Amino acid sequence: MSDTKQLEEQVMARLATVMEPELHRDLVTLKMIRDLKVDGDTASFTIMLTTPACPLKGQIEESARQAVLQVPGIKEVRIKLDSSVSADNRVSGRLNLDIKNLIAVSSGKGGVGKSTIAANLAVALHQSGASVGLMDADILGPNLPMLMGIEGMPPPREDRLIPAEAYGVKVMSMGFLVDPDRPLIWRGPMVHGAIRQFFSDVEWGQLDYMIIDLPPGTGDAQLTLAQSVPLTGAIIVTQPQDVAVGDALRGLVMFEHVRVPIIGVIENMSGDFFGSGGGEKLAARQGVPFLGSVPLDPQVRIGGDSGKPIVATNPDSPAAQALTRIAQEVAARVSVINFGQSGNVIPIKTIG
Ligand SMILES: Nc1ncnc2c1ncn2[C@@H]1O[C@H](COP(=O)(O)OP(=O)(O)OP(=O)(O)O)[C@@H](O)[C@H]1O
Ligand SMILES: [Mg+2]
Repeated sequence: MSDTKQLEEQVMARLATVMEPELHRDLVTLKMIRDLKVDGDTASFTIMLTTPACPLKGQIEESARQAVLQVPGIKEVRIKLDSSVSADNRVSGRLNLDIKNLIAVSSGKGGVGKSTIAANLAVALHQSGASVGLMDADILGPNLPMLMGIEGMPPPREDRLIPAEAYGVKVMSMGFLVDPDRPLIWRGPMVHGAIRQFFSDVEWGQLDYMIIDLPPGTGDAQLTLAQSVPLTGAIIVTQPQDVAVGDALRGLVMFEHVRVPIIGVIENMSGDFFGSGGGEKLAARQGVPFLGSVPLDPQVRIGGDSGKPIVATNPDSPAAQALTRIAQEVAARVSVINFGQSGNVIPIKTIG
């Protein structure tokens, strides 16, 4: 065997000792190492992450570098980071759509910030490099057109609805299809039909993540969605105070009943006014991950009212940074779910 080949094998062997911190398997077993080459004393390779929004990519890269530098004869390590978003196979299998993951944003109670969080998570995931769709499953009170600053959608093409696009995210909402001045008096079966249509008649194209904004409560829309499409997981949004947390618990239990994995709990509007800690307590009590908290910040509301999600327009603000970290955490949890491990058996990691 040539020296180079031998060195390449030694490098690969070292990489097989580096663990992916969320998936608890080594990088070689996970087939994350691509294009490994040794040239003189330089090793180069690509690490394929399971999401471009990987919160630990710096740590993974550094561990790989340190491991490979232990191979005698290797003095330099060149690492390229790339990603291929892990897919929930049930989604493409059952829906015949090129969508890798369906993520529902829910809560038991109204007004806790679901739509705001759904919009900002979608934009943050797009900013990380993922292709993202945002579906407004709040058929009776659609908010996403306002939150994303969208006036309407492009004309249909050959009977297919074309989603609007804002901040790089493809968006579909009942708000595009009805007269905003007319009250929407729909009944259950029509809500069913509308949500189904949003999957069957909309030209989504290829999406890594579809974020679905749900109406408040544990009613028809939640059940329709959970029963008619394979959800990769649900995110539960709650406010810090106990009453909201009780509602959130009902929302969470509903998804567990219909066997939708819980991606985790987000606490919104934490701070002096509502206090903080309720979301984390709820997550701990139910044994699901806590994804982080978003501070109460008037800029979040002002951005929402004017169609400018804060992660796009004020990315350095504490609220935007919290939302971006939460988006990474969501992406990481989705990878874990897709890897076939129950979110519950993996130690809960909180972000500080
Ligand atoms: N972190 C925050 N700081 C300040 N205001 C916020 C925050 N999050 C959301 N809001 C504001 O709270 C209000 C309710 O938010 P949003 O519409 O997103 O809630 P929702 O849970 O989707 O409501 P609904 O149940 O009616 O669908 C909005 O005015 C929004 O701008
Ligand atoms: Mg809403």
